[in-house]
Amino acid sequence: MRIIRAKDYADMSRKAANIIRAQVTMKPDSVLGLATGGSPEGIYKELVAAYNNGDVDFSEITSINLDEYKGMPRENEQSYWYFMHDHFFNHVNVRPQKINVPDGTNLNSEEECARYDQLIEAKGGIDLQLLGIGFDGHIGFNEPADTFTLGTHCVDLEESTIEANKRYFEKKEDVPRQAYTMGIKAIMQAKKVVMVVSGSGKADIVRQAFFGPVTPQVPASILQMHPDFTLIGDEEAFSKI
Ligand code: GLP
Repeated sequence: MRIIRAKDYADMSRKAANIIRAQVTMKPDSVLGLATGGSPEGIYKELVAAYNNGDVDFSEITSINLDEYKGMPRENEQSYWYFMHDHFFNHVNVRPQKINVPDGTNLNSEEECARYDQLIEAKGGIDLQLLGIGFDGHIGFNEPADTFTLGTHCVDLEESTIEANKRYFEKKEDVPRQAYTMGIKAIMQAKKVVMVVSGSGKADIVRQAFFGPVTPQVPASILQMHPDFTLIGDEEAFSKI
């Protein structure tokens, strides 16, 4: 595990964006595992700026997003499909046919999860996986559980996750109760994993996940065992380690 200390959110975003830029420069047809949430928003801003400056070209990359709310159509502003287009894809030259997000409108979980796992395999796995972390230690939507779930699966979201994500919705009741998420296998098999953490609210879970035991009760803790895991955090998020 490599730890990079950033001063603040902007510094964290720049440092993470630099790693992604280097990845795409060295391997233009990289498979990028991408994430949503407040933590990576600044990274996408940096990458769009780099693209506009002619410093990076996304025309050959394939993107495979981590997760999507079950039942959520793409055009809904709360969908992760929408988030990714709004913050990143619409502003750079990623080829639309190379964008992959689980299909929330396929209500047949078994079918959709199998499709997504086959797709990840067909692309040869992920070169660089970007992650945030939930307050309960979730990655993607891999929630605390008795065992790690390997493949893409449908999860019932934890109350704390619904609570955290309600800020994007008009009211808490609107937050979907279920989501599709990539499993732990695809994340752990990614060649590189980069996680960004920001703010004092994440300080406790950062300590638990990366300085405590590896346990499925704190899903992110498995990353301690990844051979190329980089944790980039700001001073507040690292205030308890
Ligand atoms: C959501 C996403 C995760 C993300 C987490 C933390 O639940 N499914 O991928 O890491 O929230 O989000 P934030 O970065 O906004 O704290």
